[in-house]
Amino acid sequence: MNLKEDLKHPVFRVIGRIADSMDREVYVVGGYVRDIFLGRKSQDIDFVTVGSGIELAGAVARALGPRTPLSVFATYGTAQVKHKGLELEFVGARKESYRRESRNPIVEDGTLADDQNRRDFTINAMAIRLNESRYGELVDPFGGLADLARNIIRTPLDPDITFSDDPLRMMRAVRFATQLGFEIYPETFEAIRRNADRLKIITRERINDELGKIMRSPRPSVGFLLLDKAGLLQYAFPAVLDLKGVETVDGIGHKDNFLHTLQVVDHVAAKSDNEWLRWAALLHDIAKPATKRYDERLGWTFHNHNFLGEKMVPGIFKKMKMPMNEHMKYVSKLVGLHMRPQSVADAGVTDSGVRRLITDAGADLDDLMTLAEADITSKNPAKVRRQLESFGRLRRRMDEISDADALRNWKNPVNGNEIMEHFHLPPGQQIAVLKEAVKEAIMDGEIPYDHDAAWEWLLRNAPALLAQAPASH
Ligand code: CTP
Repeated sequence: MNLKEDLKHPVFRVIGRIADSMDREVYVVGGYVRDIFLGRKSQDIDFVTVGSGIELAGAVARALGPRTPLSVFATYGTAQVKHKGLELEFVGARKESYRRESRNPIVEDGTLADDQNRRDFTINAMAIRLNESRYGELVDPFGGLADLARNIIRTPLDPDITFSDDPLRMMRAVRFATQLGFEIYPETFEAIRRNADRLKIITRERINDELGKIMRSPRPSVGFLLLDKAGLLQYAFPAVLDLKGVETVDGIGHKDNFLHTLQVVDHVAAKSDNEWLRWAALLHDIAKPATKRYDERLGWTFHNHNFLGEKMVPGIFKKMKMPMNEHMKYVSKLVGLHMRPQSVADAGVTDSGVRRLITDAGADLDDLMTLAEADITSKNPAKVRRQLESFGRLRRRMDEISDADALRNWKNPVNGNEIMEHFHLPPGQQIAVLKEAVKEAIMDGEIPYDHDAAWEWLLRNAPALLAQAPASH
């Protein structure tokens, strides 16, 4: 097969000619070749040459112009050239496992076939020759093209060898299956099950990279179910394992929270590209196992699982070496609030309930609504319809509340200093009581969200409030 037509960028010809002048073989290889067939655009292009990749990269950079950026990674035997938004990576063909992040220096040179042998999957092991005489020729020794056509992830060699070269490849298999909607070949999948515990030696950073890619896929549930089935989940993200399973008392079971959770993640993924909202969905019920009780009268209950879940999020992020920054805080906040929209809806959509919800969610209100609506997964269609209807009412009421936008940036209109000055109060609990009372009055719609109205209200109500909240000594 010849792929001349697919190599539109002039840089491919340039690289072929330079390699010719050095009397070397050169190929485009790996993900870029796969993505040509998948119709996906990529700016990262990997080249493999028989000989030194660094030398070839140097010659290419010189040919592309004096200011062409060139970075050399001598320990890894690789070099990168940047050209018009493209990142061109050069590597010499090698006999042992290829992976960009490998800590081990590259020692043994090899042929193209050696190099292809040590790649992760057949669909990633195809190469296209760039030398003038065979320009555009596909070299596909393991039937990568056929595997692409039948949607299969399969290792080129005995999978035990391919996975022992780099155990992260087991997660990559799951990730590609999830991103592309492919099946993992049975023999490859069996090898993953057999070798799953090797994932233990992989750094959290690399695992998290793959988890992120699974999470950003169209249906992340596919990846999490596969990770579970393959026995990788216990190493990749054990926190969600406790959600699995159903307990039954007196013939009454609860829903399987793992499956429910994954359904919610997919619902959210269908509505939003926000990766962190998807993480919030994955963790929204994380405290259900810890709060689960069976009540003779009520059946299964999970009291305060939202609040406990909110508290558990930082610990999970820390343990998994996920970012301890505003993303973590966002996930934690959404987990804490995930039941609020439904309970405001169930309580008949009162204005005070709606105003409190808007204030507490602030800038994350839309995301919270997406999460809470995604959480409706009952198997009873009448119940789903009822819940969605009450959600609709809630959304309409939110639109009607005139100061909704202002409430999203809630700040108490009266401040502590003016209260202390006017009422001759020392700093302390009483100030907080007065400010809280002002907030309540605004939430209840008793007074508008406005300084002067709030101050006037406070002047009238402070004596009674202070009588109930004597100064603490
Ligand atoms: N590769 C490998 N084993 C790994 C990682 C990478 O064999 N553990 C090889 C594969 O041939 C892969 C190529 O290196 O195609 C480039 O790897 P990478 O940039 O990580 O992934 P891509 O396949 O390009 O896919 P994506 O960009 O979606 O991650």
